[in-house]
Amino acid sequence: MGTRTFWAPGRVNLIGEYTDLVGGLVLPAAVDLGVRVDAAPAARISMRSDQFDDGVVLEADGSGSAGTGWGRYVAAVTKELGLLGRPPVGIDAHVMSTLPVGAGLSSSAALEVAVAVALCAVADFDVEPMPLAQAAQRAEYRAVGVPCGIMDQAAAVFGRAGCAVLIDTGSLEHELVELPEGVALVVIDSGIARSLESSRYAERKRELEQALGGGSDELLARRLRHIESENTRVRDVVAAFRENKLDRLGDLFRDGHESLRLDLEVTTPELDRLVELAYTHGALAARMTGAGFGGSIVALAAAADADAIAGRVLAGYGSRGSAYVCRAADGARELT
Ligand code: GLA
Repeated sequence: MGTRTFWAPGRVNLIGEYTDLVGGLVLPAAVDLGVRVDAAPAARISMRSDQFDDGVVLEADGSGSAGTGWGRYVAAVTKELGLLGRPPVGIDAHVMSTLPVGAGLSSSAALEVAVAVALCAVADFDVEPMPLAQAAQRAEYRAVGVPCGIMDQAAAVFGRAGCAVLIDTGSLEHELVELPEGVALVVIDSGIARSLESSRYAERKRELEQALGGGSDELLARRLRHIESENTRVRDVVAAFRENKLDRLGDLFRDGHESLRLDLEVTTPELDRLVELAYTHGALAARMTGAGFGGSIVALAAAADADAIAGRVLAGYGSRGSAYVCRAADGARELT
């Protein structure tokens, strides 16, 4: 049988940070950078990439030695799909990614979802989109022990060109929110690689759960205040997009960043500086995006100015950063 091509995008979160750990609202957009998997059915799972050092060879049910690199994600996705009843059909596959790793654009979620879509397709196995995203979310935990929320995998599945996806991570209801035409998503990587595994992500999750469970010291009160104010900001940003009141976005994004800096304490001086530079150089709105502790900021900018703003921010920041001017793009699918 012939080779088929599958794609899953990375995501940038516009607003709603850490809220998916406690059933809150998030507003990510899938972007036009992602992971492509060219796959043909085979007896075993054998994957290679020109970009990553080692290849992956596993049994068709995901068992075998996954090593310490990206094979862990492949093995974990395969095992999670097996638990949903996927027949153990292997793939012979090549993987290609246009996503920077460690920049906060969810390269791991894109890999998980692309591999999941490919494995389901070659085995002729149907999974509804949300359970597929949830299987990929569980795979992240199985692979590297990161207790992430559903945002990244759901964005990779439900993204749509020109839209952000509003997800209520408690009910899992989701709807598209059209982004204004002529607004670009500018992602500026601080160059400080973020590793969720070693960061305080899991610690924040514990704190948020304690805070919601009635814990009430000063620190937990601030953590809770972030979640409450952030959920309100998600609603306000959605309203600003829908009512085309783009002048409201600057304050909302700035307040969101300040809440992440002071109440949740997940920003870095580099992220704080990039946000300041983005406003100084004409972004409509800017804030840290993703899990923080390094990674990227997202800025909204008039498409015509986006490259120039990105260039000026990078020049002001120094040599370590890099910028990606993205468009909101479609979610995971088989490419024809
Ligand atoms: C990471 C996780 C998401 C979410 C963000 C923070 O990207 O994978 O589930 O918690 O951090 O908003």
